[in-house]
Amino acid sequence: MAEKKLIDLFNESQYYSLKYKNYFPIYEKLFDKYRDKKITFVEIGVLSGGSLKMWKKYFGEGSRIIGIDLNPKAKNFEDDEIEIFIGSQSDQSFWENFFKKVGKVDIILDDGGHTNFQQIMTTCCAVPNINDDGLLVVEDVFHSYGVSYGAKGFFNPSKYSFINFCKKTIDDINYRFPETKKFNFSLNKYIHSVEIFESIVAFKISESLCKIKNEVLYNKGKNFELKDYAHIHDPNTPGSNKFVVFIKNLYPKFRGTLKYFVFKINERFLKKFFK
Ligand SMILES: C[S@@+](CC[C@H](N)C(=O)[O-])C[C@H]1O[C@@H](n2cnc3c(N)ncnc32)[C@H](O)[C@@H]1O
Repeated sequence: MAEKKLIDLFNESQYYSLKYKNYFPIYEKLFDKYRDKKITFVEIGVLSGGSLKMWKKYFGEGSRIIGIDLNPKAKNFEDDEIEIFIGSQSDQSFWENFFKKVGKVDIILDDGGHTNFQQIMTTCCAVPNINDDGLLVVEDVFHSYGVSYGAKGFFNPSKYSFINFCKKTIDDINYRFPETKKFNFSLNKYIHSVEIFESIVAFKISESLCKIKNEVLYNKGKNFELKDYAHIHDPNTPGSNKFVVFIKNLYPKFRGTLKYFVFKINERFLKKFFK
């Protein structure tokens, strides 16, 4: 029998839950490969327990489903298929105790309080404790843009919003490349990639993939020693033309200066794509 769609399991859950409609295809894209596997799935934000029941049915018998909530009443939703931990997602010592008890986990879904502080503390505490090929999925990141919950929202936009932290993570991942800048605080030995959706950010964790050296490999195929037509040879590059190439070939020592001017003209042209 075909496995049920997540949206059907959501509608059938015995307890109340609320989720945005556009999240369901995203969850399925991210989580489908973990169905019927022996995984540990953690959701921050229990509320009435409805989503935890849905996740148990979705991931199957072999899955370990854990809910985390600050509200002690969430403990009432603990039963033989769901474990509940009471504590705050923004409390570093809560996470230390949690991972000491539970061990590393496979997926964490953050549907908790959604402030910058909660989302960023959760990311920093949880990422090192996620298994290889696991995920941290943070939802409702629209809060970073200052929408919802009244005019001020969570006092975003802010330099220190969660979405700005995600943008920093793009640099952090690229700083694995030799000779690039390094951050004082980095998660780049755990986060292999980041996937951005509307209102959801997914961090894909893999220490083993992060460790692969970024060295150039050369195969043994026949090499025709062809000239690399990069940069100013490209006739579509603004500022580059036959005259520039002619001067470059005539006076090789001006190559660097010519290249600089061509690149600056490129930048002026590109400006409009950044507006
Ligand atoms: C949007 S509701 C969760 C909804 C639930 N996941 C569902 O889909 O039905 C948010 C929950 O996060 C909890 N919460 C808020 N701040 C928290 C924190 N700092 N740590 C843990 N849970 C928190 C709230 O008590 C609330 O139950």
